[in-house]
Amino acid sequence: MSEKRLRIAVIIGSVRDGRFGPVVAKWFLEQLREHSDLEVDALDLIEVPLPMALPAFGAQPTGETAEVAKSVKERLAAADAFVVITPEYNHSYPASLKNLIDWHNVEWHAKPVAFVSYGGLSGGLRSVEHLRPVFAEVHATTIRDAVSLHNVWGQFDQNGDPTDPAGTNGAAKVMIDKLKWWADALKEARTKSPYTS
Ligand SMILES: Cc1cc2nc3c(=O)[nH]c(=O)nc-3n(C[C@H](O)[C@H](O)[C@H](O)COP(=O)(O)O)c2cc1C
Repeated sequence: MSEKRLRIAVIIGSVRDGRFGPVVAKWFLEQLREHSDLEVDALDLIEVPLPMALPAFGAQPTGETAEVAKSVKERLAAADAFVVITPEYNHSYPASLKNLIDWHNVEWHAKPVAFVSYGGLSGGLRSVEHLRPVFAEVHATTIRDAVSLHNVWGQFDQNGDPTDPAGTNGAAKVMIDKLKWWADALKEARTKSPYTS
């Protein structure tokens, strides 16, 4: 592991009214605090609404969109790795995440992406399986080990603490350790030789 700190952007994908996502995000961000070698940027998509209409090829966003688009772009570009926190909607991931992915391209290149998914019975696994080929298209590497929270409403108590801390925190640790390995390896590779697509 290099001495320089790795920068991880944690993307909170749900923007639904009354969303459960912040409970999951709060718990996961606490898990990251155990890793002093990481610098964490929590990117909550509800705070940075990107319009569904993408800019024309080669054009820059204008008006009110310009500022938010610039800030999201910069935050993704600064990240060495990503964690996507995604719910499952109708056997897939929410449109907010697809929009974020499509708004960007080089910002994802040659960087690892890990997942924390949640939902009903499937724990958001179908969202993750749909996200993997999408991230491959933007030259990102997805991490095998993921955190999956089935019937998510029962996974946290009233304080937002996990009801099965050994299982839930343990799964997060395995995933974060793998993400750090990839983030470090790919950061070194990008530094040695800029990635071209
Ligand atoms: C439109 C919609 C579709 C859903 N479809 C599924 C589904 O296919 N599979 C599943 O396990 N849960 C499904 N759920 C349950 C969600 O995964 C669950 O409510 C979760 O808390 C949603 O995340 P959020 O509260 O952060 O938006 C669905 C929920 C919504 C709102």
